[in-house]
Amino acid sequence: NWSMDDFIDLQIQHIRETVGDRKVLLGLSGGVDSSVVGVLLHKAIGNQLTSIFVDHGLLRKGEVEQVMDSLKGKFGLNIIQVDAHERFLSKLAGVSDPEKKRKIIGNEFIQVFNDEATKLDGIDFLAQGTLYTDVIESGTDTAQTIKSHHNVGGLPDDMQFQLIEPLRSLFKDEARELGEKLGMPSELVWRQPFPGPGLGIRVIGEITEEKLEIVRESDFILRDEIKKAGLDRDIWQYFTVLPGIRSVGVMGDGRTYDYTVGIRAVTSIDGMTADFAHIPWDVLSHISTRIVNECDHVNRIVYDVTSKPPSTIEWE
Ligand code: XMP
Repeated sequence: NWSMDDFIDLQIQHIRETVGDRKVLLGLSGGVDSSVVGVLLHKAIGNQLTSIFVDHGLLRKGEVEQVMDSLKGKFGLNIIQVDAHERFLSKLAGVSDPEKKRKIIGNEFIQVFNDEATKLDGIDFLAQGTLYTDVIESGTDTAQTIKSHHNVGGLPDDMQFQLIEPLRSLFKDEARELGEKLGMPSELVWRQPFPGPGLGIRVIGEITEEKLEIVRESDFILRDEIKKAGLDRDIWQYFTVLPGIRSVGVMGDGRTYDYTVGIRAVTSIDGMTADFAHIPWDVLSHISTRIVNECDHVNRIVYDVTSKPPSTIEWE
């Protein structure tokens, strides 16, 4: 019957003993797990930790700034921020198959991370935000495929690191509790699940800058309104997708031929099954008006009312 305070003390002591005066590398994804590991390790070994944060250009609006302001600004982590969005977009140009997109994003992510890691000297350890559920699930193919996109893996043979995985015995809610104990802001700790390929699988089919912009802006409005309505902790995941279809609308005296934005919001316990969230009509109505008014080239909003199964949470 341990308390989180004991856990923190024990982990810090253990990390210090393991690492000694050597150096640790961490791949930050912007998600809860790697962020908590970063703050914990920083508390234990300070600047012996170097973090790499790859911005693939497929993150949500404000996400890079939020992570940097908090982890670098407030907690003082030493973070190398890599702006790789052009590299990702050019690799993804013309590709519309969801699994191909995932592979490209996953591979490119590892390459960018490795390119940066190779520039650093004398790293002995690689830290990861592996949770207990990842440990149990890693026997199955699906888990491997999913994880390969968002955790760092597949390092080249000449880079041999010892792994440090301080969250290995924790469930997600315990990792969140740990984050809170470490003084991390609730926007970071309570963030909804976000897939490794990011907005890349929320623009359905081929990814373009224009489409990414629509998804990024509409998603921002949706998150803002869900939060204002006080629903952000009740809904498991909520986001917008751009199916790529265009339809006829009317504005002023003229007709428009613009994009449809889909809203997806689900309640779930573990993401394996899900129900569409019963968002109040007035909240939906307000979201719809804002997205159409504030996002260029959008003239129609639809709400996804399917559960999982038969649908998945993401559209790709
Ligand atoms: P689906 O869409 O399969 O999603 O119902 C279940 C959960 O997994 C997330 N997801 C992913 N996470 N890489 C990830 O890291 C992926 O390629 C990926 N695809 C789906 C999804 O957001 C949901 O939380």
